[in-house]
Amino acid sequence: MEKRVAITGAGMSGLLACKYILEKGFDPIVLEAMESVGGLWNHTIQSTKLQTAKESFQFSYFPWPSSVEEVFPHNNQVLEYLESYAQHFGIIPYIKFNSKVVSIDYVGEPYGEMESWDLWGGTDKPFGSRGKWHIIVQDSRCCSTELEVELAYLESGINQLQSLCPYHHSLLRLQILFKCQVHQVEFVVLCIGRFSGVPNITEFPPNQGPEVFSGKVIHSTDYSSMDNASAAEFIRRKRIAIVGSQKSAPDIAAECANANGVEYPCTMIQRTAHWLLPSASFWGVSLSFLYFNRFSELLVHKPGETFLLKFLATMLSPLRWGISKFAESYLKWKLPMKKYGVIPKSSFFQEVSSCQIKMLPENFYDQVEEGSIILKKSQSLSFCKEGLVLNGEHQPLKTDLVILATGYNGDQKLQSMFKSEVYQKYISGSPNSMVPLYRQIVRPRIPQLAVIGYAEGSSV
Ligand SMILES: Cc1cc2nc3c(=O)[nH]c(=O)nc-3n(C[C@H](O)[C@H](O)[C@H](O)COP(=O)(O)OP(=O)(O)OC[C@H]3O[C@@H](n4cnc5c(N)ncnc54)[C@H](O)[C@@H]3O)c2cc1C
Ligand SMILES: NC(=O)c1ccc[n+]([C@@H]2O[C@H](COP(=O)([O-])OP(=O)(O)OC[C@H]3O[C@@H](n4cnc5c(N)ncnc54)[C@H](OP(=O)(O)O)[C@@H]3O)[C@@H](O)[C@H]2O)c1
Repeated sequence: MEKRVAITGAGMSGLLACKYILEKGFDPIVLEAMESVGGLWNHTIQSTKLQTAKESFQFSYFPWPSSVEEVFPHNNQVLEYLESYAQHFGIIPYIKFNSKVVSIDYVGEPYGEMESWDLWGGTDKPFGSRGKWHIIVQDSRCCSTELEVELAYLESGINQLQSLCPYHHSLLRLQILFKCQVHQVEFVVLCIGRFSGVPNITEFPPNQGPEVFSGKVIHSTDYSSMDNASAAEFIRRKRIAIVGSQKSAPDIAAECANANGVEYPCTMIQRTAHWLLPSASFWGVSLSFLYFNRFSELLVHKPGETFLLKFLATMLSPLRWGISKFAESYLKWKLPMKKYGVIPKSSFFQEVSSCQIKMLPENFYDQVEEGSIILKKSQSLSFCKEGLVLNGEHQPLKTDLVILATGYNGDQKLQSMFKSEVYQKYISGSPNSMVPLYRQIVRPRIPQLAVIGYAEGSSV
């Protein structure tokens, strides 16, 4: 029998998955919640550009068009590139737009049997097991959040009903009641995007959170979801505080500074200072040349390394240290980090290794120098009526709008796709590690399923 494959998401990862699955002779279905391809590149802030040189952000068999001359293309160009990829490889007809996957559930072997498997799916084959994934899909144009709650509620009722009536009967009722569709497939590829959807928002103690603040609090994803004109209007002539110090925070700070100048300076509040680069090369030496090459791989210790590799990494450690110090000295010379007290505690090498090196927006420190961006450090923060209370400051930071550029909770987003609590647990990483995927794609305890787009890389 023909094996059915469903791909969730038509961003870069989903498009790529679809192309290869088509090449293998399958007839996939791509379920995409939005009405277009390209994923997060549909909703970036106006100034977003690639922070990776375009040669490092391209499908090796599908180069950027010659009309894109920029080294770091603008978000519109990235979106066009992804759209043209989808067109070129005939992916569009396989995509069902406005189709939000609410949950996926593996219906097959009992957990007891699966737990005894030594190999992925029992046989180490993608279609090795007997089960199927039931995918519940909602039309994202018609369903409200309230309805989703209802749906979850009904689903829990169905669990109890299962002992009384056949499973497919319950699913049919669900489908009729909520205009949901239930797809049954043998393999699922989750490409739902790690950096979108579920914002990472800190919980505050009672009376210290946004509820006591008289201004507005949004997450960076809310800001990037606005169209450019609405976003510009939204920030105009407001006193803005931006929380975060990785990529979104300085980008948004720069947009606010461009809009409001020194009259309404914005404040960027950092918990941790990071090494942020003004350009991708140092004195003409490319960062990729220093760190992302075959030789640089020899500079680091790796799990399960042989004696020879261990010996080499140890012998070359002075060189590793030297490159790191070279980069740090260059940045401290180039940028007034010392003046503003934002020299990171971690070494440049540590930050490269943990994928925390990001690019600064153009002229960021010029805006800091002119006073349209104010940099502040605070290990923790809380809200009061007028604004934010920062560590070590007696007066609150008076603010009209707080933008939390505090990143995403991609792991929680992935977990929430699974109906089964057992799979939710399998897919969870520990608090200090990423989702545990073999080759960053397969969770060996979960059969007939792959995840793409959750790999940790130095260029994102
Ligand atoms: C602002 C920003 C800029 C970035 N810049 C770079 C860069 O310069 N270089 C780099 O290498 N990386 C960059 N990244 C990393 C980025 O994650 C990748 O570039 C890449 O585009 C991600 O593609 P994706 O398909 O994995 O995820 P996404 O683009 O997020 O796509 C996921 C898709 O899945 C859909 N979806 C999600 N949940 C469901 C559901 N339940 N049902 C149906 N559909 C669903 C979404 O609607 C979306 O279309 C950036 C990330 C962000 C946030
Ligand atoms: N191409 C582009 O131009 C572009 C633009 C935007 C984003 N991106 C990519 O998108 C991804 C997400 O980036 P992001 O900047 O949105 O998120 P991020 O990289 O996860 O950074 C989140 C920031 O929020 C801070 N933070 C989190 N919780 C906090 C808290 N409770 N209090 C204070 N600070 C807190 C973190 O501080 P700590 O450092 O102390 O943890 C960190 O500085 C990244 O991969 C990024 O490269 C790319």
